[in-house]
Parts: sequence; C-alpha cells; structure tokens
Amino acid sequence: MPSPPAATPRPLPLQVSPPPFPLCDLCRTPQPPPVDATSATPPASSPGARRQPTLPLHGKRRAFLMRINNGRMKMRNKQRKSSALNFDAGCRSSLSFIVWSLVGVALIVCFFSVVRQADTRQNHIYFRHLSATRELEEIEEEHFRLPPPHKVNPRAVKRRGPRKAPKVIDQYLDESSAVHALFFPDERSAVNPTKGGNDSMYFYPGRVWLDTDGHAIQAHGGGILYDHITAKYYWYGENKDGLTYQTHPKSTYRVDIIGVSCYSSKNLWSWTNEGIVLPGEPTNVTHDLHKSKVLERPKVIYNDHTGQYVMWVHIDDANYTKASVGVAVSNSPTGPFTYLYSFRPHGFESRDMTIFKDDDGSAYLFYSSRDNTELHVSPLTKDYLNITVAMRRILIRRHREAPAVFKLQGTYYMITSGCSGWAPNRALAHAAESIMGPWETLGNPCVGGNRFFRLTTFLSQSTFVLPLPGLPGTFIFMADRWNPSNLRDSRYVWLPLFIGGLADEPLDYSFGFPAWSRVSIYWHRKWRLPESWKGYT
Ligand code: GAL
Repeated sequence: MPSPPAATPRPLPLQVSPPPFPLCDLCRTPQPPPVDATSATPPASSPGARRQPTLPLHGKRRAFLMRINNGRMKMRNKQRKSSALNFDAGCRSSLSFIVWSLVGVALIVCFFSVVRQADTRQNHIYFRHLSATRELEEIEEEHFRLPPPHKVNPRAVKRRGPRKAPKVIDQYLDESSAVHALFFPDERSAVNPTKGGNDSMYFYPGRVWLDTDGHAIQAHGGGILYDHITAKYYWYGENKDGLTYQTHPKSTYRVDIIGVSCYSSKNLWSWTNEGIVLPGEPTNVTHDLHKSKVLERPKVIYNDHTGQYVMWVHIDDANYTKASVGVAVSNSPTGPFTYLYSFRPHGFESRDMTIFKDDDGSAYLFYSSRDNTELHVSPLTKDYLNITVAMRRILIRRHREAPAVFKLQGTYYMITSGCSGWAPNRALAHAAESIMGPWETLGNPCVGGNRFFRLTTFLSQSTFVLPLPGLPGTFIFMADRWNPSNLRDSRYVWLPLFIGGLADEPLDYSFGFPAWSRVSIYWHRKWRLPESWKGYT
C-alpha cells in the first residue's frame, strides 16, 4: 500500500506584526516617522537645543520631501489663511481707512462751513451796514503843510552855536508855535449845536466843541454810558477848566481837581451840561479828591442788581505815586455821586484805567500797572464796588496805557496808547477770545490822514470806544488831543471805528495766520453818523 503522501507542512500562520515604522515607498524598509515640523525644535545653536535625530538617507530625503510638502501645505494653508486674513485685514483696514477718510473729509467740510458761516455772518453784517457807513470807511488823506519853524536870531546862533531843528512834535506841544495853532483851531471854528445849519450833526475832530449852553465841553479822559431808563447818553469826563501849572519845573503839567463833569445827549452830537457830578474837595487836604491831587479817566456803568450807577476813576497825588483806583456811586446818572474809597487793586499800582461791562452783566477793571509796563484785568464784584480775587497780567512789557475796551460777537477788543505823558504816540489795537486774556496785538488801527497822523493817533490818546447800536461792527473811537500847557483847551478826537477785514500783524498764537479781524479807525476832517442811524430806538 502506498503510503499516503506526506502531508506538506502547513505553513505556520505568519505572525505579521506591524512594522515599527512605516515602510519606505521605494525600498520597503521601515522608516521612522518624519519629524513633525510643527513640533518646534529649537535651533541647534540655541541653548538647550535638542539634536535632531540623524536619519538614514532615505529618511532624510523623505523627511526633507515631507518637510517640503508640509511646508507647501502650510504655505498653501498659510497663504490661504493669510490671504483670508489679508482679505479680512485688508477689507477691515481699507474699510476703516475709508471710514476715517470720510470722517476726515466730513470734519474738514464742517470746519470750512463753520468758518464760512462765520465769515458770511460777518460779511453779511459788514455789507448790510456798508451802505450806511460806506463814506466813513473811505480813506481820507490829509495834506497839511507844516509852517516853517521859528526864525532863530543869527546873534543867538553865534553865541550858542547851531541848534537842532525842533521836532514837529515839540512844535506841536509848544503853544506859541504855528504848528500848534494848526491843530488847535480857535473858537471861531467851534462845533456849535445851537447853531445847526450845514454843519449840523458833523463831528470835527480837534475843533472846540460847545455844549447846548455855548460853553466848551469839559469831559476829558472820559467815557459814555447809555442809560436805558432815561433813554439818553451820558458823557462823563475830567473837568479841566482851571489853570495849568507845574508843581516843579520837571513835573508834568496839571490842573487842580475840579471834578467829574456829566453831559447828556440823545444824538451824541448835541450835549447838555448836567453839571459836576463828583466834585473835588476844596479844603480837606487828606481827602483823595482834594484839589491838589489827581482825578483822571472817570468811567460809569449801571448795575442792574443794585440799580446804582457806579463810577471808577484813577486817583493819584500830584506826583503820581499813589497810583490807585477810586469808586463812587449814585442812584441817578446825573449824580450826585458819593465817593466811597480808593485802593490799589491786589496791592498793585494802578494808573490809567477803564471799566468794561460785559453782555452778561459781569464787569471788569483794566489798569496800567508796575510802572506802566503791563496791564492788569480783574473782574468786579457783583455790586461793581470792588474787585474779586482774580487778576490776570496782560500785555506784559508792552508799556501800554489809556485802555479802551469793546466787544463784537464774542471777541473782545482794546485800543491802547504808548506811555508818553500828554504827548501823543502810536495807538495799538488788541484782541482776545476771553476778556481775561491772553490778549494779542493786532497793530496800529489808524487809517488815512498821513503818516505823521497815523503815528500819533491823529494827535490824540484813546479814552473810550462806544458801540453804535443798530450798526454792529461800527463804533465811535473817543480820544483826547491834549494841550499840555493849557489843559482846559484840550480837544476831542472822535472818529468812526470799524471791525472787519484781516489784521495786519502776525499774531502770537496763530502760527502766522491772521486769526482776528482788523480794527480800523478812519481819519475824517469832518464826518457824521449815518442819517439812518436812530440810536437805540
Ligand atoms: C498820560 C495819561 C493821562 C495823564 C498824563 C499825565 O500818560 O494817559 O491820563 O495821566 O499822562 O502826564
């Protein structure tokens, strides 16, 4: 019997254990897994860097390829991601750029429209009244031929040697000179409201100005109050109708205190004498108002809370060393005023001064201080009888005096003079957004006449600026043409003042751009208020 074929050994079931590493695609040898590019391996150079395991060539290649692939994938992802991000960011940034640009454009448009509106408003006001005031804003030139100086005796020249020709201003101040006579015409050319005729309502700067009694008006260094109760204007000023003298050869010319005069008017041209509303003190030498002292620049405002008329004045002794302010009150615009006291505001010297009542009823004192090197401004108390603790120094080291403050559409303006005693000098206009400053200087406001006139404020010194109701932007500039050797014969220079156009000096706070309107005082040999002007009514 054949033996059964030997059974072929059954192959043992192959124990296939998963290779420790996946096989290489090319050589089918197990390969360690690729290094995950995301498991950030610190660079070998960095401290604590783990050495990258050395891979067999294939492994290396694979890892390299995978890294490239990974990199590509990542790049692709990154690109996708970053492009998505870029798209978002781009969108967002370009959106925000557009939004901000729009906001910027809107702001610029807003700014220009506000500026234009303000301009238009001002232009509107300016043009509305232009027709009424046009002729007052015409530049009028003045060509005066100055008389030759005194002839000098040739013998005196031999004895004393040749002398310098006197300056025009010295001749002007010398009452015996022909130059003086030119600017102080005598009574024959006086403005006389009782006469009327062709000259009715005309202001003639520098001429004698008579009141309704036919006497020369005595209201120097003064100011005007419009009283709504009596519907009249009141002009207060120094009565200097006395003898001019010097206390010693080097002192300034003076007149004894007579008191504060008051005149009333409805039309600003024809003035009725209301008498001396604050008289000097004839006997008591210790009194502030004793005739031997100094009382200058009276200004009156009405207090709506107390119903009182409050007067502030410059009080001094004959040598101007007291340098104080004085306060007086009355229940009537025509007085009598009761003198209360004098003091140095905040302990500082106070010489030329003024007071200003703002639209909201608050009032302020302006005074030249520290040897007239600067001005100070201080709010008054509610009753106007004192100053509050607040004070600001303004126009420091500018040496200004004779302040006259006014306001137009929220901006404050001021005209000042230089400090040269009774001799005239160049005026300056100033402006401020806040009455407490800072105050900026706009330049010389004088227009027309001639150079000599413009450099001497038409031979006068500021004292007050009166707004003309119904003619916004139009004011009357009030000034004194002092006659030092005969102070009672000092004259008044009233001229139209306008706010409009661009200021002509580069300004401190505006980076060289003119930010303020120009203040212009126009010279006129004769002028009148627009016929259409009816005062407050
Ligand atoms: C001026 C001043 C006048 C008066 C005069 C006296 O500077 O403005 O008000 O005081 O000096 O010399």
